[in-house]
Amino acid sequence: MKQWKRLFTVLMTVVLIGSLTACGNTEKAEEPKEPAATTQSETETALPDSSQETETAGSNALVVYFSRTGEQYTVGVIDHGNTAIVAEMIAEETGADLFEVLPEDDHYPMTYAELTDVAKQEQNENARPAYAGELPDLAGYDTIFIGAPVWWGDWPMIMYTFFEENADLLAGKNLVPFSTHEGSGLSGFDRKLEGACPGATIGKGLAIRGNDCQNAQEKVREAVSGWLAELGF
Ligand SMILES: Cc1cc2nc3c(=O)[nH]c(=O)nc-3n(C[C@H](O)[C@H](O)[C@H](O)COP(=O)(O)O)c2cc1C
Repeated sequence: MKQWKRLFTVLMTVVLIGSLTACGNTEKAEEPKEPAATTQSETETALPDSSQETETAGSNALVVYFSRTGEQYTVGVIDHGNTAIVAEMIAEETGADLFEVLPEDDHYPMTYAELTDVAKQEQNENARPAYAGELPDLAGYDTIFIGAPVWWGDWPMIMYTFFEENADLLAGKNLVPFSTHEGSGLSGFDRKLEGACPGATIGKGLAIRGNDCQNAQEKVREAVSGWLAELGF
């Protein structure tokens, strides 16, 4: 009789342990646990390496600019345009690529007086002069610095050709305007760029005196560096 009792107790113990284990499994399967709350820093460190690579690759920048050589206001005849000098400084400091907007048929005359007449006429006609050269694939850039001399208080008309021809690709980009001038400052380049490039984000612009580009380059470099630092470059 004692033996039967012992066997019965052993059997009951086995059945009890089995059913408890089964309950544990059922609970896990039926009630999925919420993901553990993570702090922001945990989330950042948890990011896979590939996302960090994407961020670096995506921060590629391009500098697009228009600039003239020849006779220029307050500086005489120059062989390196004022805006070109600023564009090259930006490219040096950021590692950005450069694209110069060059008139297809270089119809701009060399004397300052003639150039102002032609520029005024283009503005009055709302002309869209063609530009030459092979533009790099804009899809590969997040930030595009865009610079030109102020001409009659506005972007030279050829820049509107650039904005309109590339409107689709410029939408969604971070566009950062810069000007060289002899008194007009940025002359609404930022506002006008926003109007010409719907869908783009417009960054804080920079205005540099044309004369300083030829005669005070350290001052210009400091202004460019400070501005780039403010923009996070
Ligand atoms: C056609 C023309 C129009 C200009 N209009 C203005 C103007 O409205 N306001 C201003 O401050 N400077 C004006 N300037 C001066 C230029 O903006 C300045 O010299 C600029 O630095 C030239 O740059 P670049 O050498 O890159 O062409 C004008 C110059 C030209 C040739």
